[in-house]
Amino acid sequence: MANLWIRKPLDLLMKEASGEEKGLKRTLGPTSLVALGIGAIIGAGLFSITGGAAANNAGPAVTISFVIAAIGCAFAGLCYAEFASMIPVAGSAYTYSYATMGQFVAWIIGWDLVLEYAVGAATVAISWSRYLVKFCHNLGFELPIQWCMSPWLTTKMKYDTMVDGVIVKAGETIKGIIEGGQLVEGVWQGGQHLTGNMNIPAVIIVVLMSLLLVKGTKESAFINGIIVALKVAVVLIFIILGWGFINSDNYVPYIPQNTGDFGSFGMSGVVRAAGIIFFAYIGFDAVSTAAQEAKNPRRDMPIGILVSLAICTVLYILFAHVMTGVANYTAFQGQDGIAPVAVAIEHMGTMGADGKMVPAYPWLNNAIILAILAGYSSVIMVMLMGQSRVFFSMSQDGLVPKMFSDVHPTFSTPAKSNLLFMAFVSLFAAFVPADIVGEMTSIGTLFAFILVCIGVLVMRKKMPDAPRAFKTPLVPLVPILGVLTCLSMMLALDIWTWIRLIVWMGLGMIIYFVYGAKNAKLQ
Ligand code: ALA
Repeated sequence: MANLWIRKPLDLLMKEASGEEKGLKRTLGPTSLVALGIGAIIGAGLFSITGGAAANNAGPAVTISFVIAAIGCAFAGLCYAEFASMIPVAGSAYTYSYATMGQFVAWIIGWDLVLEYAVGAATVAISWSRYLVKFCHNLGFELPIQWCMSPWLTTKMKYDTMVDGVIVKAGETIKGIIEGGQLVEGVWQGGQHLTGNMNIPAVIIVVLMSLLLVKGTKESAFINGIIVALKVAVVLIFIILGWGFINSDNYVPYIPQNTGDFGSFGMSGVVRAAGIIFFAYIGFDAVSTAAQEAKNPRRDMPIGILVSLAICTVLYILFAHVMTGVANYTAFQGQDGIAPVAVAIEHMGTMGADGKMVPAYPWLNNAIILAILAGYSSVIMVMLMGQSRVFFSMSQDGLVPKMFSDVHPTFSTPAKSNLLFMAFVSLFAAFVPADIVGEMTSIGTLFAFILVCIGVLVMRKKMPDAPRAFKTPLVPLVPILGVLTCLSMMLALDIWTWIRLIVWMGLGMIIYFVYGAKNAKLQ
């Protein structure tokens, strides 16, 4: 029987980290690492999830939710930074747990990180697909909606529709392709329900990003840099232009009264919204998975993690403040919550004589959607990269098959692993609804953060003298507060999300005992 609690010696880890022989190239400096972080952080959480969280859980106080989530991330980020400066190896939280809490816990966390990275990538891909539908609609052509959503979802068609630019009312006879791409011959029913088949655009973006990763980290980091600049610019433009249209009436009441259900407004709503929009912060830790590709990991890992987190926190709070200031939080209900940016921009304008809003920046909507589409692709890319790097380390340790650490002879990337995860993530992206994968990602990541915070405490006790380029301040206070904040966000999430987490971890245990424990190199 394998020794479940065997720990990977620190000097062995360091030897692996210093060796170039494993094939990953050291190409990333501090700026690239911060960009990598921001590239992974700003995405569907901000541009999609914020709307629903404001409308259903927190109202304008979604800004407070962003602060709560940021506090949890900051505590965890400080712990990640200590580990990343101490053990700069590709596996991130997985590797840290292997050194501190032993093989079994390491396995649990490595398996759990699939939820964060692979399932997270699928979540963003699904949201990407929604924005693509909206973008094409604005340009005047409709994508077939059944092929842009999960088979578990239905959407209600509008009562009036269009065929070849002509409005058709319910009850009229038509023959042609209606809005949404469905072929209708006969009487237009209007208001009928359409069920999804699969989400093809979501699959396409996953495949494209995976192929880019196969090609190489340096090239990927370059493209990522351009996209990050674009994404930050969009957020800044939104904040600056929107600031002048804030109506302070929209902030009253700031925390809407609880409806009687836990998580629906009031303080419980603010905390649940924190657990939900926590998704928006996920990604700063992905920086730590690139440790083996950093030129000077001991100095630059903490910079990459903490600076990207700090920049995003400030941007998010301002963004949410403007969003709920220009439009009342109730404006983000239902489908409108999925694209809150578009709704907010529609509210930036002056009231015309006919009582209709005249938008001040009509061009802004499409420009922003385009930037969001580009921005999401960098999130997907960094998440897929993080995923392949975690399995790279697990595979080197023998816990998962060797093919996950095979490096491509020309590209120097774990190409086989990238392609396998491409298939896995595509399945989720094609068939599962966004809110399910989104909350699975959040709960999985919060769980990983908790283990990293505990890991710092364990490491300080077991190896107090090991060199650390960056030390988490105020230990044990910071890690303990990290555990408590993340745990309270986990507890605020839905029961079904918990059940999915438990099922996924149960599956992981089976694989560990059937394969990992037997094949682990460290026995
Ligand atoms: N933080 C990333 C996003 O919001 C995962 O898309």
